[in-house]
Amino acid sequence: MRGIILSGGLATRLRPCTKVTSKQLLPVYNRPMIYYPLNTLIKAGIKEILIIASPERAGDYLNLLGSGKEFGVKFTYEIQDKPGGLSQAYIIGENFIDKEDVIMILGDNIFEDDFANAIKNFKGGCRVFAKKVPDPERFGVVKFDENKKVVQIVEKPKEWISDFALTGLYITDGRVVEIAKSLKPSGRGELEITDIHNWYLQRNELDVEIVDGEWIDAGTFDSLLRAQILAKEKLQDKLII
Ligand code: DAU
Repeated sequence: MRGIILSGGLATRLRPCTKVTSKQLLPVYNRPMIYYPLNTLIKAGIKEILIIASPERAGDYLNLLGSGKEFGVKFTYEIQDKPGGLSQAYIIGENFIDKEDVIMILGDNIFEDDFANAIKNFKGGCRVFAKKVPDPERFGVVKFDENKKVVQIVEKPKEWISDFALTGLYITDGRVVEIAKSLKPSGRGELEITDIHNWYLQRNELDVEIVDGEWIDAGTFDSLLRAQILAKEKLQDKLII
């Protein structure tokens, strides 16, 4: 399985801290933020990792992370010219993915869980990961019926439909590239990740696992502060890089 870390975007919510650097390079306790999703992929056994960054910051990632040799993996770099949505990563990564299964993680998502098993027993389709949160309106959300079957996936619903947020970690088979190419931009001009999930859901090929440990999307000042504390108090002995 190939890995992608999506690390572009403008991070306007974190201005002025992100005026001259990328959000995913800001410190989270004693490491740059991107080290945490990188740890998640490397611990899960992923050896080939594509890092997608904005044109302004791509050089910084190369300087920081290099070839990957230091970590026993191989990094490839691609540029996302403009933040056109999470699903665009699959189009940018087409050659890298090369029809293989792929795990994508967002560069600002910090997990306590280990995903090695979820990867090992993945047999095609799409697997996403949900977590019960107090503020579901910030996220893509997943609604279950009384038999825990997925009925609906919606990006940042205006009306409450569920407390289960979709985390920024997605396992898909190689069809995802063609699915991404077939999407139309949403009202906010982005290729939405939830449209890919709904494609698999409609074909009964989507499964959702619940994340047991802590998960933080470190995209706001408050969640970044929580991420610092989580990193210091719970993650240090779990990190391998
Ligand atoms: O963190 C989980 C959430 O991530 C999910 O629940 C949502 O379904 C998903 O859309 C996403 O929501 P966000 O509001 O966090 O999306 P945001 O636009 O902030 O982008 C997430 C990360 O991806 C962020 O670190 C920047 C990066 N990004 C974003 C876009 C739109 C890119 O690199 N390129 C892009 O085009």
